[in-house]
Amino acid sequence: MNVNLQHWKLAVDAEGIATATLDKAGESANSLSADVLREFSSILDQLDVYPPKGLIVRSGKEAGFIAGADIGEFSQLDTPEKGRALVERGWGLFNRFAAVRYPTLAIVRGHCLGGGLELALACRYLLAVDESGTKMGLPEVMLGIFPGWGGMLRLPQRVGPAAALDMMLTGKTIDAKRAKKMGLADDCVPPRVMEPAARQLLLSGQPRRPLPLMQRLMNGPLKGVVANGARKQVAKKARPQHYPAPYAIIDLWQKHNGNALAAPEVIDRIISSPTARNLVRVFHLQERMKSFGKDSDFTARRVHVIGAGVMGGDIAAWCALRGMTVTLQDQTLERISPALKRAHALFAKKLREPLKVRAAFDRLIPDPQGDGVPHADVIIEAIFENVEAKHALFRAIEPRMKPQAVLATNTSSLKLEDLRTVLARPERLVGIHFFNPVSMMPLVEVVEAEGGDPAALQAACAFVKQIDKLPLPVKSAPGFLVNAVLAPYMLAAMRAVDEGVSPETVDEAMLAFGMPMGPIELIDTVGLDIAMAAGKQLAGGAEAPRCLLGRVEKNQLGKKSGQGFYDWSSGKAAKGSAGAVPDGLAERLVKPLVDRVEQLVADRVVADGELADGGVIFGTGFAPFTGGPLNYRAGLRG
Ligand code: NAI
Repeated sequence: MNVNLQHWKLAVDAEGIATATLDKAGESANSLSADVLREFSSILDQLDVYPPKGLIVRSGKEAGFIAGADIGEFSQLDTPEKGRALVERGWGLFNRFAAVRYPTLAIVRGHCLGGGLELALACRYLLAVDESGTKMGLPEVMLGIFPGWGGMLRLPQRVGPAAALDMMLTGKTIDAKRAKKMGLADDCVPPRVMEPAARQLLLSGQPRRPLPLMQRLMNGPLKGVVANGARKQVAKKARPQHYPAPYAIIDLWQKHNGNALAAPEVIDRIISSPTARNLVRVFHLQERMKSFGKDSDFTARRVHVIGAGVMGGDIAAWCALRGMTVTLQDQTLERISPALKRAHALFAKKLREPLKVRAAFDRLIPDPQGDGVPHADVIIEAIFENVEAKHALFRAIEPRMKPQAVLATNTSSLKLEDLRTVLARPERLVGIHFFNPVSMMPLVEVVEAEGGDPAALQAACAFVKQIDKLPLPVKSAPGFLVNAVLAPYMLAAMRAVDEGVSPETVDEAMLAFGMPMGPIELIDTVGLDIAMAAGKQLAGGAEAPRCLLGRVEKNQLGKKSGQGFYDWSSGKAAKGSAGAVPDGLAERLVKPLVDRVEQLVADRVVADGELADGGVIFGTGFAPFTGGPLNYRAGLRG
């Protein structure tokens, strides 16, 4: 075949089966840039002339199938025409591909996201390869856009609107087995048989499994009902003024059968929205954080966690979930057992299959004697927040550690410079500061003490990345980044309560601003005693708010005691009506947070403004559609 291709390879075997393999030049993962699509179109031209018996589309990359469209190109859409042209490019091409007369099949192994899944959906068959990295999804909504290359048309047809909308509106991904079960994949096979299985399925002539009647009705006469239900669901999580894309997805599916070109004004509005721009920024920030530690050749296999409390127990469970062998130490077995119970629940929720749950549980070893210390690549200390206790522990374990092992503390408030004084090699101590709840919070601060060993810091970042968290290097300073910026924000919220604004109104102001949880509810969740201690350390000597003092005196500590600012006796905060939110309240409450971020960047606690924005978004949930606190302030200045 004589097509001149840079990114694709096209081969036809003796039986007349063609294989198009995407191996994007100069990249470790495949994405669908304009060039890649142009070449695919020329492959289709060629196959129009010499129709094959069937076509298999696959990836030549280890990393996976296709990660999505090229996000770099998305950032260059500065006119409405360019936005529409981008949608047209994939929509037109994939419609053409879906209509070819010969059978087509995508072998999906590894990630298959966004435009990648839209390409796979345009094939007659989708063969999912059952491997831990295989995941399929349409995460466009997380970038503030919609799956405009046929995803909104074909996914509902393939799996029914309920499951399709769920995937498109949350951006969540599914694995190979699940894809088979829900009808997204026609089959799911282990890697070793994928080639023969692909050929067999391709030539099988097998019709697609029809959707159940109810799903067909939901994709037809009942569309309006389904769309209204979906709008209600979305409204619980995202306000249209902050996140217009999920609402646009529902509209485009309901009114235009997923064809965005039929509603060009929606394309213009979504693609030019500040939300889309900012969410793409957040995506890039996330990629930047993921790159920390990538130059280190450090790999952790065994982790030893000391302290099986709220944090240590959950950190140990998370590491075991991510494939590491973990020893978990505490003073007695009794203190370790609640952590094991929580770990089991986590494994069951995340892994589902009993064999996998069992394997993860086997990797988590209770170790009251600390036998794991000499074997560990990473040791994480998460015992009581007390200098003497930590000193005694460090003295005892340092001589037993491997020379190259990372020694980390999870301390929130103690200075690393004070903690490491008892070490023979003080420069090796780093902070690896997780957030509560460990399994939900994507960020981990990696703390560098004055004169710390850069290699230890790199290794710590590599470890954090290995367990699929986002490492953020920070300097050793009170509260690091995240707690330091939360403290003045919480203080401002409580000062407002002291002034007579109700907790409900304060929370509503910040929910309307776009925070995932109001600051008063957050204080109740963290615990009023903890907020008080953090305030003492981080509020620069400011007096504690009266509303906080009074409650702590009455032992009303928030969620954990059943009563804080709210009544938690039902397990949820019982909130009264918020009433009207005074103008400017949200701006007033968020100002001290943004001021503190600026200060911390100036003090170089975090290297630059981009990382500060990323850290605050992934560490506190700060409204992602703003692009982060500094980006938000820059936007106000215009
Ligand atoms: P916790 O009180 O729930 O657990 C501490 C555990 O350490 C207890 O089970 C205790 O028996 C054990 N322990 C104490 N001394 C020990 C020793 N010498 N050897 C072995 N085990 C020992 O405490 P939590 O909340 O988990 O905090 C632990 C550390 O994590 C602290 O440094 C804290 O500042 C930090 N942290 C806490 C966060 C939170 O939200 N609770 C968030 C981030 C960091």
